[in-house]
Amino acid sequence: MAAHWWPRLRRDIALALLGSAVLASAEAGSVDAGRRSFGLHCQSCHGSPPDKLLIPAVLKGANAPALIRAAIQNQSQMARLASLSDSDLANIASYLAHPATTDVDRVLDWAEQRYPALLSPHAATSFAEGFLYRGYAGGVYIGFNSAQAYFLDSRTGGGPQPLGSLAAFLQQAEAAGF
Ligand code: HEC
Repeated sequence: MAAHWWPRLRRDIALALLGSAVLASAEAGSVDAGRRSFGLHCQSCHGSPPDKLLIPAVLKGANAPALIRAAIQNQSQMARLASLSDSDLANIASYLAHPATTDVDRVLDWAEQRYPALLSPHAATSFAEGFLYRGYAGGVYIGFNSAQAYFLDSRTGGGPQPLGSLAAFLQQAEAAGF
């Protein structure tokens, strides 16, 4: 089954990369980067997790970078954040929309829905030997080592096969609502 799944995933990656070449601004917001930026620039006033202080106000920025930009322009206390880039704000907006997850979990949740025959039943993410990974029935694994995705089929005995970048998969996951 893995042999059939593999070329399909390769094709998806090729489409994702093609899409990013055409739509240069379609880069997915990263909740991991957003969590770091929120900690640096927002947490002191809005709390962390962002549900303690000024809750309704800051949560308006979930998936809405333009609203955060407007707040920086309109709230005098936030004026000093004017130097944050559009991609900083996109990441923070993604984090506010998904404060309890990670980019790897977003991609793996999407992949389980996209490839249910291979990636089931739903598995929790584990960490070992530098990999964040999930293992599935039949000895199939998907793992992430920093920004790279790998596929491992323990039945074939081969090593981890590189699948593509976390960023390329994240773009597909985000487009599908994860
Ligand atoms: C120095 C304090 C401070 C910092 C730092 C700060 N904010 Fe705010 N923010 C405020 C205050 C005060 C308000 C107004 C709160 C209210 O209306 O209840 C506000 C309001 C907001 C709003 C709501 C705007 C609206 O239209 O209602 C959003 C969204 C927001 N902040 C996001 C952020 C984000 C994202 C960051 C980090 C990049 C951040 N803030 C950093 C003080 C701060």
